[in-house]
This record gives sequence, structure tokens and C-alpha cells, in this order.
Amino acid sequence: MRILAVSGSLREGSLNTRLLREIAERAPAGVEFEIYNALRSIPPYDADDDTDPAPGPVRALRDAVAHADGLLFATPEYNASIPGVLKNAIDWVSRPRAETAFQGKPAAVVGATTGQFGAVWAQAELRKVLATTGARVVDIELPVARAHHALVRRGALLDEIHGPRSAEILNALVTEIQRDRESALVA
Ligand code: FNR
Repeated sequence: MRILAVSGSLREGSLNTRLLREIAERAPAGVEFEIYNALRSIPPYDADDDTDPAPGPVRALRDAVAHADGLLFATPEYNASIPGVLKNAIDWVSRPRAETAFQGKPAAVVGATTGQFGAVWAQAELRKVLATTGARVVDIELPVARAHHALVRRGALLDEIHGPRSAEILNALVTEIQRDRESALVA
């Protein structure tokens, strides 16, 4: 089972990218993660450039989403919402609407911030955006607040609270993927 992990941060030392890595390291046997690392290469969405074939980096991302069994996003919170670069990439993958690789794709969202609420608004926003594209979004959040302090104190973001919660989210995502496969067999 392959999960494409997408961090909404471009930053080298991103707490959100780190969160994805920590979750991937704890993944159960049989669950493979690919951490997408080309968000920076996605051009600003311009419907005039949304041609067939699409720009190379967009094609690559659409293919990566299409070939993944499920998606795990980690988003920072920027001004109570998701980073523009992440929204931009999602907008590209969401088109053309009738063919988007997001349609029916199981997805889950986590988030880390330096603030005290753990990106709960950004996570809710991202779940809304993904659901709008047709993705089947797990309705659980993982708010990692004051993540920079946690990292300094423990050398890790996941602890005895966040670890079990991240496992719960991953289990829910895996269950969605299995449901997806079962319905594909029936169809
Ligand atoms: C932030 N940050 C932030 N944090 C938060 O909890 N609520 C917010 O509304 C905002 N707003 C915000 C706007 C902008 C433009 C920036 C650059 C930052 C702080 C942000 O969550 C923090 O820098 C995270 O560490 C960013 O995630 P990465 O890059 O570490 O993954």
C-alpha cells in the first residue's frame, strides 16, 4: 500500500515535513511512504497553461497522486489557513474536474505549528478543500502545537499523545484505502 505524503512547507527545516517523516518511520508493515518533495516546482495556476499535456511538474504530481493508494498531508498554518503553495498545487491536481486524480482518493491531514493551537484551522481548511476536489477525507486531526519546543525538548514531534493519534489517523486512512479496494473488486 503506497501513501504519498505531501508537506505544505518548502522550508528545509520544516516541522511539517519532519512530522511526515516521523509518521512514516512508525508506519505498520506493508505501508510504504513516498515523501513528495517537488512542491516548489509547481507553477502558479493559470488556466491558460492548463493544457494537454500539462506542465511537466504538474503532470508528475498528478501522476504521483493517481498512483498512490492514499494521501497524507501535513500543513503549516499561515494566517489561519493553508499555505498558498499547497493550495496552488491542489488547484492544479483538481483539474480537469471530471478527470482529477483526487476523485475518491483516500486522504488524511495532520499539522504542526509553532503556535499554541497546532494548525487546527489550517487542517480544517485543508480537509474542506480536499473534500471539494472529490477526495475521501478522514475526519480526524493531529494538532502538533509549539512544535519547535517539542523538537528541542524531545528531539521528536511525536510523543505519547501525538504518537497514538497519528497511528489512529494512519489506521483510518488505511481502512479507507481497503474500502476503496473492496469496492473496486465488487465493481
Ligand atoms: C505563520 N505561523 C502561524 N502559526 C499559527 O499557528 N497560526 C497562524 O495563523 C500562523 N500564521 C503564519 C503566517 C505566516 C506567513 C508564517 C510564515 C507563519 C507560524 C507557522 O505555523 C510556523 O512558522 C510553522 O513552523 C511553519 O511550518 P514549517 O515550515 O515548520 O513546516
